Order: sequence, then C-alpha cells, then structure tokens
Amino acid sequence: MKRILVTGGLGFIGSHTVVELQNEGFEVVIIDNLSNTTIEVLDGITAITNKKPVFFQIDLKNISKVKKFFKNNKIDGVIHFAASKAVGESVNEPLKYYENNITTLVYLLKEMQKNKVNNLIFSSSCTVYGQADELPITEETPIKPADSPYGNTKQIGEEIITDTTKISDLNAIVLRYFNPIGGHQSILIGELPIGIPQNLIPFITQTAAGVRECLSIFGDDYETPDGTAVRDYIHVVDLAKAHIVAMKRLFTKNNKEKIEFFNIGTGKGSSVLTVINAFEKVNNQKLNYKIVPRRVGDIASAYADTTLANNELGWKSKLTLQDALRAAWLWQEK
Ligand code: UFG
Repeated sequence: MKRILVTGGLGFIGSHTVVELQNEGFEVVIIDNLSNTTIEVLDGITAITNKKPVFFQIDLKNISKVKKFFKNNKIDGVIHFAASKAVGESVNEPLKYYENNITTLVYLLKEMQKNKVNNLIFSSSCTVYGQADELPITEETPIKPADSPYGNTKQIGEEIITDTTKISDLNAIVLRYFNPIGGHQSILIGELPIGIPQNLIPFITQTAAGVRECLSIFGDDYETPDGTAVRDYIHVVDLAKAHIVAMKRLFTKNNKEKIEFFNIGTGKGSSVLTVINAFEKVNNQKLNYKIVPRRVGDIASAYADTTLANNELGWKSKLTLQDALRAAWLWQEK
C-alpha cells in the first residue's frame, strides 16, 4: 500500500484528509509542528478510522529534521498542507509567511527530489484569482496580483512547483480551494480556530454559543443580490475527498500534464446573509448580528466553475451548505 506524507496533517483540512486517506487504505505519515492545532486531533483521527497514523512533530523550517525524515521514511506521495493561513496576520508579518510557506516548500521539494518522491498535491487557494472579472471562476481565469503576502505565497508556491516539474520527475496537482467549512460527522474532528476567529463560520458558531457577543457582517453594499459578499462554501469532507482522487490520478499516471490545476468548490455562491439564515434555520438558533463597514482586502464575489474537476478528477461536491453548517454547530457545541 502507498505511503502518503501529509504535512499539516493535524490541521483543519489536513485531519479530514488523513481520515479519508486511511479509509481508502493508504498508509499515512503526518508531519505537523502543532503551531495552529493540538495533539488531541490525532486521537480524533484514530477514533474515527480505528488506525493511528504515524506522527512526527517536526517544523519544516528545520531542514536537518526534514532531511532525516526523508532518509528514514519511504514515502510514495506528499500532500502539502502545512502553512500559515491568516490573511490579516500576513499583512503585518510578511516575513513569517514567506518563511513558513515558501522556505519550507523549497526544503520539502529539495528532499523529495533527492529521495525520488515524485508525487505532490499542493494546497492552493481561490485567493490567487483575486476579484475575478467574470464569474464563475475557471482555471483559465487570470491570476491577479496578490492582495496579501498570504495570497502571494500561494501564487509563488504554484510557480515554484511548476518550475520544479519542468526539470525533474515531479508530478504535481494543485488544488485551489474555495471556502472550506464544516467538520466530520463523527464530531471527533473539526475546525479549531485559536483566538478570535477571522473566518465567517467559526465566528458564527462562537456567536451562537455565546462566546462572542455579536457577529459583524463586513459590508452590505456590495454588488450582489442582497449586498453582502458572496463565497463558495465547500464542506471540508468533500474537499478532503478531492485529495484522494488527485493522489490516485498521480499514482495511476492518469495526469495529462506534469502539473495540473483544479478549482475545488461547489460551484454555488452564497452571500453572508444566506449563510446566516441557513445557519439559524438548520440549527434552530438565533444569531445576534450587525452590519459594519467592509473589511479591507475583501472581494465582492467568488465562486468556482468546477467542470474541470468534475470531468478530469471525477470529483463533485456532494454535501450541502446545510450539512456543513450543521456539522460546524455540533462541533462548536461539543
Ligand atoms: N465575514 C463577515 N464577518 C466575519 C467574518 C467574515 O462578514 O466575522 C465575511 C467576509 O467579509 C467574507 C465572508 O464572510 O465576505 C467569508 O469570509 P472568510 O474570512 O470566512 O473567508 P474569505 O473568503 O475572506 O477567506 C478565505 C480563506 C482565505 C483565502 C480567501 C481567498 O479563509 O485563506 O478565502 O478568497 F485566502
């Protein structure tokens, strides 16, 4: 059976992907530095799958440990999640983002090359498109100059991998995620925001739970049907499954290019107010919210055209916004 290294495997998307990998019979080795999660996530994964993945607490910035890891572990493919991901923080601490997201990617690729590990799935983001001129967003939609150092690390990361595939045996699939939300139906793993949540869904669930007093809606004067910003919210379990089909595509050599790019979303845009209303209804909760000015750097609207992922990967999102909002609330309650 193939052994997959999952970097950032105890994070939100990483942990859900590890569950799906183990359910599919893959052997999983996790590297995580625990900078934005806790070791208990490992117990959650183990409880869901009845199998404890191999875990190394390694910071990818520590090149000697990365070298040692690849020397001692036979790996067939890598899914690289480990990265810093707070847009606002990246504006204030750009070097942290370039070091955490770019330096580590270079180290990883060097060791993969040296050890002949030639299959990579990379976590990218719809943020590379910025505010697209036309919706829905296809993979042909032009990449815009990044709005934040975080977004820039995703663009540069894609370029570094592209250049590496040109001169080596590396094959890569880049998945550009839209907005991942929700959690596992077992309620044993979910999203663990540390500190005040920046993202909409954790802020909603914490407000409903009384941890936060009031949800601020950032702007109701966008050119959207109800004036609030529109995003493509994808259930994290559906997103996790996209990684499995992508990895299998590489192992069966069904990829058509050495590097391929796929949008991973539902194809459906939902406004902030739509999300709030759906949350209230599906969970029988009343949310305290107010309208405040737009958040700097936010775009009006983004949702995916997922035709390419549907046709090439044979992947399609199945779970609904309601499923995700239910899961997020059950997790918050727990
Ligand atoms: N929002 C609020 N109030 C909040 C939080 C968010 O109204 O308290 C709104 C935002 O303005 C936005 C929407 O809810 O319109 C979604 O916001 P999120 O912060 O949840 O998600 P973003 O779309 O801003 O960011 C996400 C990822 C980033 C990624 C970006 C790319 O979190 O990593 O998509 O567009 F870079």
